[in-house]
Amino acid sequence: MAAAPEDRGRAYWERLAGRYDRSTRFLARPVPRMLELAAAAARGRARVLEVAAGTGLLTAAIAPAVGELIATDYAAEMVGQLDARVRAEGLTNVRCERADLYDLPYEAGAFDAVFAANVLHLVPELERALAALRRVLAPGGILVAPTYLHAETFGARVLSRVVALTGFPGHRRFTSASLSAALAAAGLVVTRAETIPGPFPIGYVEARI
Ligand SMILES: C[S@@+](CC[C@H](N)C(=O)[O-])C[C@H]1O[C@@H](n2cnc3c(N)ncnc32)[C@H](O)[C@@H]1O
Repeated sequence: MAAAPEDRGRAYWERLAGRYDRSTRFLARPVPRMLELAAAAARGRARVLEVAAGTGLLTAAIAPAVGELIATDYAAEMVGQLDARVRAEGLTNVRCERADLYDLPYEAGAFDAVFAANVLHLVPELERALAALRRVLAPGGILVAPTYLHAETFGARVLSRVVALTGFPGHRRFTSASLSAALAAAGLVVTRAETIPGPFPIGYVEARI
């Protein structure tokens, strides 16, 4: 029987976890600006959730700015890498957990901010994913969702087709406009949007409920 789309994605990330940081170096150009904006958005937030944290690139940038951070990913191997980084960097306010963003084991309204970096283009069911992220946001909380834009430029569209041939489990090719439109369609109010140039540009978006 064929694997469900989610299962194919998870198996891909489990396999890649140990090589993820090396294999994404060619995409690094927009990362410093993404981290700068995310750290500024995180500043002063007491209870923070990060989903799809991967190896902890964003985790390490936002942890010093917040009270408590729960950093999660659905791939066990990614959580292993994440946990190792958190320990190596001495981030004592971070707890690493395994969690699927569709099915977050936290109470409704539990977090002042939710970070979901570079994952919205990967989820098979975008509306369901955004509803799950909204559910755990407290009133006045923000969603920060910087996302690779596979359709923003000609170069990104070509590169996207090349990486698709390698088995990359992408589900949609966003432009900055279609990313903001997807958040608005999910009932979120986009409060900041910036396109950061790169081989895959990153659409940095903040939104509130
Ligand atoms: C492109 S990586 C981004 C990692 C990190 N946020 C970053 O920006 O470096 C995508 C991550 O999303 C995770 N992921 C994909 N679908 C997920 C889901 N449904 N729930 C939780 N994590 C998911 C993968 O395991 C992977 O670690």
